[in-house]
Amino acid sequence: MSSQIGARLIGVGAAVPSAVVTNADLQRLVDTSDEWITTRTGIKERRIVRGNETATGLAIGAAKEAIAYAGIDPGAIDLIIVATSTPDNLYPSTACMVQVAVGATRAAAFDLEAACTGIIYAMAIGQQFIGSGTYKTVLMVGVDIHSRFLNWEDRNTCILFGDAAGALIMQATDGENEILSTYLRADGSGGHLLSIPNYGTAYPFSGEEPPKAMDRYLKMNGRAIYEFAVHAVPEAMRASCAKAGIRIEDVDYFVPHQANQRIINAAAERLGLRPEQIVSNLEEYGNTSAASIPLALRDAVRRKQIVPPATCALVGFGGGLTWGAAIVRWTASEHIANGEAG
Ligand code: ACO
Repeated sequence: MSSQIGARLIGVGAAVPSAVVTNADLQRLVDTSDEWITTRTGIKERRIVRGNETATGLAIGAAKEAIAYAGIDPGAIDLIIVATSTPDNLYPSTACMVQVAVGATRAAAFDLEAACTGIIYAMAIGQQFIGSGTYKTVLMVGVDIHSRFLNWEDRNTCILFGDAAGALIMQATDGENEILSTYLRADGSGGHLLSIPNYGTAYPFSGEEPPKAMDRYLKMNGRAIYEFAVHAVPEAMRASCAKAGIRIEDVDYFVPHQANQRIINAAAERLGLRPEQIVSNLEEYGNTSAASIPLALRDAVRRKQIVPPATCALVGFGGGLTWGAAIVRWTASEHIANGEAG
């Protein structure tokens, strides 16, 4: 809307655990093969938290990298939104832990849950706060450690996910608005297709039967999620481009949620995108849920696949079911501190 204050992305960052788990490692746990995993998903390896590594620690790492990229004083951050489905605690929120760790003393902070679409939801909220003039600088983090919620004896699910955090910083601008559109959708009727049960209200105090360990694992109908994703991604892309007033052909780079290379390729084909427009680092990190879009963007910027200025379509989909997209102009160069890359 023309009366709104414009916003732009000024920083990106990510953090991943140090331990690499390869397809060969998984072959020792379940009846699978590197060939099956590679051809069905495109994943070769993933990072998994070990020892005292936590979702909070990864979120802080990603936030610090994004702050350094943007070259801002953490005290300037007005709002921190952490998108996660796998927080270390129900409270305090991960966002509050990030707030204290990065020294964003003035910032309001909260978590949101929209599964793998979480970072897109966070961007839409950030844009609203900036657009209304309430806040100037918003830090958005997506973090998930699905490894803690996987059944490592279930080959259908344990091969897909990796742990990571990714972060973005959005700021008000006097110049041209660079968040061209955000688009959010949800359909709770498909909630059962991808879920992680909680020990919360579903298991009241009076329950005779304590929940079995199996009840806390991620459950997925892979075929149904595949079908959902290959329809939801093109739909979100078309709707968000229309909202932004641009054509699909005007998009330079497609930065989809990194769930599965077959989903990404099928969606890209439906949209008529060229292979060089597709951003993917799935091979290295697997499906990192709420972290995957900023992690993929960070890597594409680092390896200079995305060179500013570029129009990027960030497209998410996941549990809920949720899906959505953000069309952004990426113009942010890495901040140079004291003559060196910050
Ligand atoms: N290794 C070897 N064989 C396997 C494995 C494995 N890791 N997993 C399943 N199989 C077997 C199955 O048991 C089945 O065997 P059967 O025919 O003897 O019963 C066979 O492979 C085929 O199984 P399908 O489920 O039909 O395989 P499909 O081709 O559909 O691929 C996959 C499965 C990769 C999960 C696919 O459905 C998919 O990509 N779905 C989307 C999953 C996804 O991305 N989820 C997360 C997205 S949303 C989010 O990010 C939160």
